[in-house]
Parts: sequence; C-alpha cells; structure tokens
Amino acid sequence: MSGNERVALVTGASRGIGKAIALGLAERGFDLVLNDIAVQGATLEDTAVEARAYGGRVIALYADVSNKAQVQAMVAEAVAQMGTLHAVVNNAGILRASDVEHCPEDYWDSVMDINAKGTFLVVQAVLPVMKAQGYGRICNISSIGGKHGAPEQAHYSASKAAVMGFTRVLAQEVGPFGITANCICPGIILTDMGRVNLDDPTISNAWKAKTAMARIGDPADVAGPVAFFCSDDSAFVTGQTLNVDGGIVLS
Ligand SMILES: NC(=O)c1ccc[n+]([C@@H]2O[C@H](COP(=O)([O-])OP(=O)(O)OC[C@H]3O[C@@H](n4cnc5c(N)ncnc54)[C@H](O)[C@@H]3O)[C@@H](O)[C@H]2O)c1
Repeated sequence: MSGNERVALVTGASRGIGKAIALGLAERGFDLVLNDIAVQGATLEDTAVEARAYGGRVIALYADVSNKAQVQAMVAEAVAQMGTLHAVVNNAGILRASDVEHCPEDYWDSVMDINAKGTFLVVQAVLPVMKAQGYGRICNISSIGGKHGAPEQAHYSASKAAVMGFTRVLAQEVGPFGITANCICPGIILTDMGRVNLDDPTISNAWKAKTAMARIGDPADVAGPVAFFCSDDSAFVTGQTLNVDGGIVLS
C-alpha cells in the first residue's frame, strides 16, 4: 500500500512527540487525523497547517482519549471524513510526578485513565474498521519508564507497563486479521513533559551521561521508528516493544 493511500490517526498530536510523529507521517505520504483535547485547539491547528504542507489531507478532531463516548464519536467522524483508518498511533499521555506514599488518588486515576485506558478505548473503537478491511497498524507509545522507571513515577510506570502488556495480547488477537500492534518506548525526550526535569542542568547532564548517544532526545527522533511500525516494512513484526532512547535501556 503506497503512502498516499494510507490514513493515520495520531492522538495527542498538538505538540511534542505527537506533533513530530504527525509531521513524520505526513512527510512519508500519510493522510492524517490529528487528535488532542479541545484546550489544545490552537496548537493542534498549527500542527495541521504544518502537516498539510506535505500535500496530504489532514483533519483535526478533538476528544479526550479517556472518554469512551468522545473516542467513539472521533473515530466515527474520522471514518466519515477520511473513508477509513489504516494506522493508529496512541501517543496522548500525561505525567504527574509524586512519590508513592504521598501520591493523590486522582494522580493515579488520571494517569491510568489517559495513558492506559485511553489506549484501550482508541484501539477498541478502530478495530471494527481495521478488521473489516483486513489491514491495520497500531503503534502504542509506552516509555522506558514502563520498564525500569524512576522515583516519583510509579503510577506513570504502571500505566506504561500496562500499555506494553495490552499490546502483546492485542497483537495475538488481531494478527489473523492483518493487523499489527507494537509499542515504542521513548527515552528522555525534550518536550513540555520532558522539560519538567530537563530544565535542571544537573538532571539533564545526568541523563546524557546514562545515554550511549550522549544527548537528550528530540521529538523527531521518535518519528521514524513510529513510521516503520505504521508501514508495510513492518508487516511481519508484531507484539514488539522498541526502545527509542539513544541507548539507555540496552537489550
Ligand atoms: N517526553 C518524554 O521524555 C517521554 C518519554 C517516554 C514516553 N513519553 C510518552 O510520549 C507521549 C507524548 O509525550 P510528550 O513528551 O510529547 O508530552 P506532551 O505533554 O508534550 O504532549 C502530550 C500531548 O497529549 C495530549 N493529551 C493529554 N491528555 C490527553 C487526552 N486525555 N486526550 C487527548 N490528548 C491528550 C496533550 O494535550 C499533549 O498535546 C506520552 O504518551 C508520553 O508518556 C514521553
């Protein structure tokens, strides 16, 4: 299937890694459905304008990925406007730092709701479309934090480990329908989320020292590996997690 016949949905696409993924897919010929929450409207529209410069069709749809009704409506609208969905990138996510002892219950709930349940709800909504066409590419953005994690991120780590476990079983269920499901685990990437730590040069330098490539990641570093999982080059790759971290977690 050539680039300009494919339609991809990217959640949390207004900024950071999601925006870089969207532009990376646009550059490779994908038509795009860009999602974010309504308060990100202006920045999502900016992403859409940049993506359209590559020549494909691009629409922006607002939905909270943790809300089933909004997700179902978003996917129905995407299919109505774009005809179908070939690829989905579950990128929307949040990080609310706290140690376990003092972690407010709503930190746990919101992080699990958006990072883990949001991935499930989007996948659940797109599966009938992908099964009907016998083709699909699902790429879930987990984190190296879901593998070993860091202090004050136990709930975040749990949510990202949930995404990996979910993806491994999903791959087994949907493989017979021509659908692949894989995870990307970004490392330390300079975004609004990453900046929480990286603005402190001591912490930033410590991460560089732990990274084989000796630098902090750029959002664009994640786009190519995601595009691989969204393409036919990965047709026989499923149930996998790929670290995109410049060499922090070596396996
Ligand atoms: N930055 C890093 O170092 C890093 C490392 C590993 C994994 N990740 C993961 O990569 C993904 C993107 O992170 P980022 O660093 O670009 O963060 P970011 O905060 O810059 O961007 C996250 C995007 O998700 C959107 N979003 C949040 N809640 C949403 C919801 N309920 N529905 C729809 N959209 C929602 C936000 O509005 C924002 O546009 C996240 O899943 C994050 O956990 C980031």
